Amino acid sequence: MSASARPDAADLLAWYDRHRRVLPWRALPGEQADPYRVWLSEIMLQQTTIAAVKPYFERFLARFPSVEALAAAPSEAVMQAWAGLGYYSRARNLHACARLVAEAHHGRFPDTEEGLRALPGIGAYTAGAVAAIAFGRPAAAVDGNVERVITRLFAIDAEMPAAKPLVRERVLALLPADRPGDFAQALMDLGATICSPRTPACGLCPWMAPCAARAAGTQETYPRKAPKKTGATRYGAAFVGRREDGAVLVRTRPAKGLLGGMVEVPGSAWSADHRESEALRHAPLAANWRRVPAPVRHVFTHFPLELSVYAASLPMDALAPDGMRFTPFARLGEEAFPTVFLKALEAGLAALGDR
Ligand code: ADE
Repeated sequence: MSASARPDAADLLAWYDRHRRVLPWRALPGEQADPYRVWLSEIMLQQTTIAAVKPYFERFLARFPSVEALAAAPSEAVMQAWAGLGYYSRARNLHACARLVAEAHHGRFPDTEEGLRALPGIGAYTAGAVAAIAFGRPAAAVDGNVERVITRLFAIDAEMPAAKPLVRERVLALLPADRPGDFAQALMDLGATICSPRTPACGLCPWMAPCAARAAGTQETYPRKAPKKTGATRYGAAFVGRREDGAVLVRTRPAKGLLGGMVEVPGSAWSADHRESEALRHAPLAANWRRVPAPVRHVFTHFPLELSVYAASLPMDALAPDGMRFTPFARLGEEAFPTVFLKALEAGLAALGDR
């Protein structure tokens, strides 16, 4: 069987008008979207789910209510507010972008795709999304959800990511001149709620009739992708040293690279051939280090990590080695620990008990 109609943006928009999700950064019908909120949400939503982003978005906005406020904030405050969202280069770019908008653009985001594209951390997707949603420009915003919807709708057999330009072309051809922002968000909502990766709810879809994959019964096989290669597991050791007053030995990671500028407990490098028997050579100082029985596991995009955690009580006169510092227990929450080190910290402190 083949699809029985040509897809029409009007059908999707009519569906969106009835079913649009209420999201904290989304303008209500008839309202003008705020570019700062749209931009912030799009950066946060890159590689992160809506459920995870919502509380961060609200807190971020309360703390940095405008692009000028964000630009003026110290980078530690921005990293700390971001900690837990992952992909920390995004937070650094976010801050750099806010500064540039505040200083070089008088606090106003450029209102074209090209202008937005020139800002740090803004790629094709984000430029298209902000241009369409915040400024009503006829731009395509193609993310993973949109790729799924469009490759199904047109049964595009080329593999991702090579098929991206094709998908983009199809989106641009469908764009309604009068409501590009709603169209972009409608595509996102359709992908997130109806056109899901597994068992899509085709019976509820405004584009069921024109969907080529649905007609062929192959919807779940799109988008076509080359099998993913995940990296080998890496191993390492982390050291949770707690002084008698509860302060914990920490350090800031180098600005560049994985988790750059974030805070960690000291430890070894992470590698596939880490040797546990030599882990103590990476201890930051001499102490009675005890290995916590269960290692901490964390999955990064390119590799899984298994960290063995060592914990020790340190005397009050312990000196923090060069480049390290003791953070009082009550201030640990203010440090920009990424999730993996929160897990290590929790395991280490639990092993040390309340004493
Ligand atoms: N995913 C990324 N950006 C989004 C948005 N603006 N609305 C809904 N889902 C999204």
